[in-house]
Amino acid sequence: MKAKDLKKKYLEFFKKKGHSIIDSAPLIPEHDPTVLFTTAGMHPLVPFLMGQSHTLGTKLANVQKCMRTGDIEEVGDTTHNTFFEMLGNWSFGDYFKEEAIEFSFEFLTKVLKLPISHLAVTCFKGDKDAPKDEVSANKWRELGVAAERIAFLGKKDNWWGPAGETGPCGPDTEMFYWTGKGKPPQKFDSGDSKWVEIWNDVFMEYDKTKGGKFVPLKQKNVDTGLGVERVTAVLQGLDDIYLTELFWPIIKKVEELTGKKYNKEKKVMRIIADHIRAAVFILGDERGVVPSNLDQGYILRRFIRRVVRHFRSLGADVNKNKFTVILAELIIKIYEGEYRLLKEKKKFILSELEKEEGKFVLTLEKGLRKFNQMCSDKKIDSKEAFLLFQSYGFPIEMTQELAAEKKVKVDVKGFEKEYQKHQELSRVGAEKRFKGGLGDASVETTKLHTATHLLGEALRRVLKEDIRQRGSNITAERLRYDFNFDRKLTAEELEKVEKEVNKVIEKGIEVKREEMLLKEALESGARGEFGAKYPKKVSVYSIGNYSKEICMGPHVANTSELGHFKIKKEQSSSAGVRRIKAILE
Ligand code: SER
Repeated sequence: MKAKDLKKKYLEFFKKKGHSIIDSAPLIPEHDPTVLFTTAGMHPLVPFLMGQSHTLGTKLANVQKCMRTGDIEEVGDTTHNTFFEMLGNWSFGDYFKEEAIEFSFEFLTKVLKLPISHLAVTCFKGDKDAPKDEVSANKWRELGVAAERIAFLGKKDNWWGPAGETGPCGPDTEMFYWTGKGKPPQKFDSGDSKWVEIWNDVFMEYDKTKGGKFVPLKQKNVDTGLGVERVTAVLQGLDDIYLTELFWPIIKKVEELTGKKYNKEKKVMRIIADHIRAAVFILGDERGVVPSNLDQGYILRRFIRRVVRHFRSLGADVNKNKFTVILAELIIKIYEGEYRLLKEKKKFILSELEKEEGKFVLTLEKGLRKFNQMCSDKKIDSKEAFLLFQSYGFPIEMTQELAAEKKVKVDVKGFEKEYQKHQELSRVGAEKRFKGGLGDASVETTKLHTATHLLGEALRRVLKEDIRQRGSNITAERLRYDFNFDRKLTAEELEKVEKEVNKVIEKGIEVKREEMLLKEALESGARGEFGAKYPKKVSVYSIGNYSKEICMGPHVANTSELGHFKIKKEQSSSAGVRRIKAILE
């Protein structure tokens, strides 16, 4: 059975069992700034697991785009991915353990027709937080699973969640399928990798609190997850997900482009196939980002650069081809029928890959030569790691990976310090060059600088659209902002402005910097300072869709760093110009 049919059959099955089918949420979470990516189907559904009612009822199912960057080291084996699709069904205080297990069993044995002789399960063995899960084990026995095929394990294996530090979680029961050759052993050994985990039914009956307590939830929920790639392989009698139609065209192309054989280069080719797919889905997400040194953008950058490096390690001439673009086109072809957005964003996806690959290729050869020289004393110190990052575009993780291959140590902690120091230096540098109106380049002034942009926009929204900055001065303690307005602001107006700024701060909006020609910047709607003289090429800072200004920075990366905004004073500055002094506390 093909992956497409598996997904279809799954949704059909749960629809028949009374579930509403929902769309995949974006890969980049909309409401949870504490994680970079959606890691499971339950993640966007946390409010409903906590008791909020869902407009589509108490039973849902879907196919969710997921990413687990924590598994990046595992990629290269037969079953792990960073990006993957998860099938899931949920009960919000509706059915619980017995019915959930019946659904899973029926789907596996009747719809997918997997023989029970090849199935095994694990259940929670119990500890101080929750009792042994006899209910699940009994249900499995009743359905015909032999006692030797039921293992009881602890929290490490049979407990799921919370997705973050706190939230819904509980014991789970996991289903395994024998992928080895010949008859499966009678006794189940969950440590034997030929038993592949295919489905996880989580019984979310606890809320883990900040204090680390497990408090029973008012509503008992079911959250299940089944990995599309793994089950597809199982259904096709394969013990390697990369041999399925989801990856095989990519692997074939890599063979063709490098002249190497998959059989001899499995690990590297799997990494390439996994990472290019992940990169395409990040770029092609509803909330897609571009490569950068920040958050999701940095993960994306690492994926792309690792793919390029591995093409080179397979002997390909990275100057000759845009390998990521060639592979991305294949990925889009595989998925565009199901993910329309990939098709719509195709041009953007390919051009971003091309840019990023091009940028990296420029420095890769020289960087590798430099790296090899650095290795002569069997260690890479912080300054060297930073040079590789700064001048040759080597993500620190790549330097670590290269070094590990040569058994060379890298001072990663020192690198982090060096990185921070440099951030400060470049801020000071930027300030000196462009006189951005900043007293110094400390963290405080950086925050106040971002607050200045928010204030300008808030004034426009509260007072009138044509408010312009007439002057700005920032010290470590306060910002001072002058603007065109011909009367004193009322107390209510000041309160409104304050509220408006704090609202944006609380939203935790990303602050983005782009470089462009002045002309382009103005055309794109970026604001300039009244009467300012700008160089031909400028940097533009955007705070989400809220504000966009031509500015030399520096700025914080996210508005959530600002704390609470407070106006201390409003007064006249000169004729038709008012002045506000404000602080962050
Ligand atoms: N949340 C559980 C998991 O990720 C079930 O989907 O395994």
